[in-house]
Amino acid sequence: MITVTMLDALRAQVRGWRQAGQRIAFVPTMGNLHAGHYSLISMARQRADRVVASVFVNPTQFGPNEDFERYPRTPEADAKGLDEAGCDLLWLPTVETMYPLGVAAAVNMRVPGVTETLDGAHRPGHFDGVATVVARMFNQVLPDVAIFGRKDYQQLAVIRHMVRDLAFPIEILGADIKRETDGLAMSSRNQYLSDEERVIAPRIHQALLMMRDALQAGSPRVDVERDAAEALAKVGFVPDYAVIRTPGFAEPEDGEPGPRVALIAAKLGRTRLIDNVEFALD
Ligand code: PAJ
Repeated sequence: MITVTMLDALRAQVRGWRQAGQRIAFVPTMGNLHAGHYSLISMARQRADRVVASVFVNPTQFGPNEDFERYPRTPEADAKGLDEAGCDLLWLPTVETMYPLGVAAAVNMRVPGVTETLDGAHRPGHFDGVATVVARMFNQVLPDVAIFGRKDYQQLAVIRHMVRDLAFPIEILGADIKRETDGLAMSSRNQYLSDEERVIAPRIHQALLMMRDALQAGSPRVDVERDAAEALAKVGFVPDYAVIRTPGFAEPEDGEPGPRVALIAAKLGRTRLIDNVEFALD
C-alpha cells in the first residue's frame, strides 16, 4: 500500500491506474479503524481493481461542543490494518490540503430535506459538513464506486442525494453493519465507554430488534417508539430519538406494508451512539 499526502501525487497515481483500464473504489473514513471499516475495504476489493481509502478527521462535520479534538487518532494501526485488508492507496490529506482556502472560506454543501430530521436535527450542520468533505474527496480521488456503511443510515441517504443531484459519475454502495458478538454496532466511539457502560450499550440493538418485532406483530408505531425510548432511559441512556421510518424518513401509517428502518440515537454518559435495523412489513 502506498500512502499519499499530496493531491498531485494522488491524482498521478489514480490517473495511471485509470489509463491502464482499472476500476477504482473509494472508502472514506475518519480513521481509528475497526472490523466495520475493514468490511468496507473487502467489499471495495470485490468491486474494483484498485482500492483507495482516506483517513481524515473532518473538522467541518463536528459541532462546537462535539468530540473533534478528542476523536481517537491511530494513524500507524490504521495504515497497517488497511494494508492487510487489501487497500492499495491511503489518502491522508492535511486540513490545509482538504480546505486550501481555509475552513472559513470553504465552499459548503447544503443538502436540503434529508438533513433536517433525526441526526440532522440533533447535530445542526453535521451532514452538510459530511457532504462538503465527501464532495471534495470525490473530486480528489475520482473513483468509479464509493462505499459507505449502513450503520450511518442517514449519512448514506445524504450522500446518495448529493451524488444524484450533482450528477457525480460515481456508484454508491451501502455495506451491512458489523457488530460485536453481543450486538453492539462497531464504532470508533465505543472506546469512550466505561466498562459499566459497555455492558449496557448493546441494549440499543436489543431495543431496535424489539421495535421491529413489535411493529411486525401489529403494534402501533408511536407506542413502539415510546416503549423503546422508555426502555433505554430506564437503563441509563438519554435517547435523542427511537423511531421507525420509511427509507425516505417519512412517518409510516400503521398497517401500511413496505420497507422500514428503526433508528436510535442515544447518549450513554458522554458517548453518543447510533444504530439502526432495516426490515419489511408485509
Ligand atoms: P467513519 O465514522 O470513520 O466511518 C467511515 C465509514 O465506515 C462510514 O461509511 C461508516 O458508515 C462505516 N462504518 C462505521 N462503522 C461501521 C460498522 N460497524 N459497520 C459497517 N460500516 C461501518 O462516516 C464517517 O467516518 C465520516 O462521516 C466520513 C464519511 C468519512 C466523512 O468524513
